[in-house]
Amino acid sequence: MTDVDQPRPRDPRFAIWIGVTAGLFVLALVVGFIWLPLAQRGADGLDLWSAICRAVGLPSGNARVSAPVAGQPASQVAWTTETRRRLAQGDASAGAAIAQACNNCHGVVGISADAIIPNLAGQSAAAIYKQLDDYKSGKRDPAVMGVYVSPLSDQNLLDLAAHYGLLPNPTGDTLSTQSSTSTVARRLIDVGAPLRGIAPCASCHGPAGVTPGAPGLRGQQRAYLELQMQLFKDGTRRNDISEQMRSVARQLTSEEIAMLAAHYSSIPDTGGR
Ligand code: HEC
Ligand code: HEC
Repeated sequence: MTDVDQPRPRDPRFAIWIGVTAGLFVLALVVGFIWLPLAQRGADGLDLWSAICRAVGLPSGNARVSAPVAGQPASQVAWTTETRRRLAQGDASAGAAIAQACNNCHGVVGISADAIIPNLAGQSAAAIYKQLDDYKSGKRDPAVMGVYVSPLSDQNLLDLAAHYGLLPNPTGDTLSTQSSTSTVARRLIDVGAPLRGIAPCASCHGPAGVTPGAPGLRGQQRAYLELQMQLFKDGTRRNDISEQMRSVARQLTSEEIAMLAAHYSSIPDTGGR
């Protein structure tokens, strides 16, 4: 009734505006959600769904995450499938022969006689390889180790890593035996300190979880552990990828560092790392 009483305006421009707006809307959808994602897929290796998620700012399980690059990378080693594949190619017996040059300091069975020189026995091959490569590239202070790694090839490093990865570390009793009951250390290891943003040591260093390349700490030399935590704390050692260890060490007090070093050096290695 009212329709009949009030005739609609019949301005042809009205229909054109609506048509153009609708057309632009559809075009924007096609470009934003189909064409651009498809174009990006080729360049970035994303699948279409991840590209669409990225276009609207949503996280997607499939999207590749690239670490923020602030200046220089902390290490030239990255935990790619290629690195893991190469690690499997280490030849332990070839490594044992090269290790003749290391035995004076690190011990014939990979247990050193000097508290400031790390034990290598029982360490993961990945951790050994990364450290050797970091000494070689200068990402970790090469003052002591540089001269021993510089003549070695990448295959030599892989062989050494395989060799030390196979040696057992039965230590514990011969090292520090005090403080393994420190509740401060136990808390940091199992619970961390959430208010200071410290994740539990055990979640990266085992036994609760292992971050790629995180060295085992159990049965390691006490003075060595303490020194390394201090070096991460004051930023002298910077070869940890994404500052994983520096961000923890910066939050630790020197007393906590001493307790943690005492604790880890007195634990017999049970292989759970
Ligand atoms: C003169 C003594 C000496 C010799 C020889 C030596 N190292 Fe070392 N090595 C050290 C000292 C000291 C450290 C720790 C402090 C530092 O980084 O300078 C260390 C650190 C390491 C680390 C790092 C361990 C960790 O837990 O991060 C690895 C791996 C290593 N050495 C392997 C080797 C290998 C393999 C050889 C033989 C090719 C070798 N070293 C020869 C003294 C030596
Ligand atoms: C987010 C994971 C993470 C947490 C949590 C963490 N670490 Fe680490 N830590 C690492 C990584 C990764 C490295 C190896 C850095 C590198 O590549 O050189 C490392 C290295 C170390 C080293 C040097 C070992 C060596 O052989 O050179 C010590 C000591 C250490 N961590 C102690 C601790 C202690 C104690 C805690 C708990 C208070 C802790 N970390 C918590 C990831 C972590």
